[in-house]
Amino acid sequence: MLSLAAMAESITIESSAPKAIKYEELIPQLKSLVGADKHPIAVMANVAAAIQGVFGFLWTGFYTVEGRELILGPFQGPVACMRITIGKGVSGAVLAEGYTIVVPNVDGFPGHIACSSDSRSEIVVPVKNAAGVICAVLDVDSAQLETFDDVDKKYLELICDWLGAQIF
Ligand code: SME
Repeated sequence: MLSLAAMAESITIESSAPKAIKYEELIPQLKSLVGADKHPIAVMANVAAAIQGVFGFLWTGFYTVEGRELILGPFQGPVACMRITIGKGVSGAVLAEGYTIVVPNVDGFPGHIACSSDSRSEIVVPVKNAAGVICAVLDVDSAQLETFDDVDKKYLELICDWLGAQIF
């Protein structure tokens, strides 16, 4: 059992469970932790910390949209690139295209931005407001190849859909 303390709240996940079950356990606890709070930085910070804490990825964090750029937001992991132009890298491609991109091997993605040389695979999910406009992206990096699949895509999209409606 994995327990992540957060002020008076905590997130408890069965650490030996398959990842789909971990996501199933995480999502209602995240919603409960966040409650009615709509502050974008506070909410994104705890979402990044919870995902990173449960799964132990290399890097989990958000970039927010400002004009035609992505600006580094709340994250957990090594220091990272602070600005990414629309269309550049995986995150910039998601901003340009509007859908999730799963990268099984970062060396196979033309234009991948290597914020960390330890990153081997990656998933980037758009966070949209109620009008469907992308306001941020969730970027998750792994030090292993082929970490992310349809299970991660499904649940991270559920998290980002809820998050976008909550804070944007
Ligand atoms: N690899 C990303 C850049 C952001 S970092 O991974 C945190 C990209 O190509 O967009």
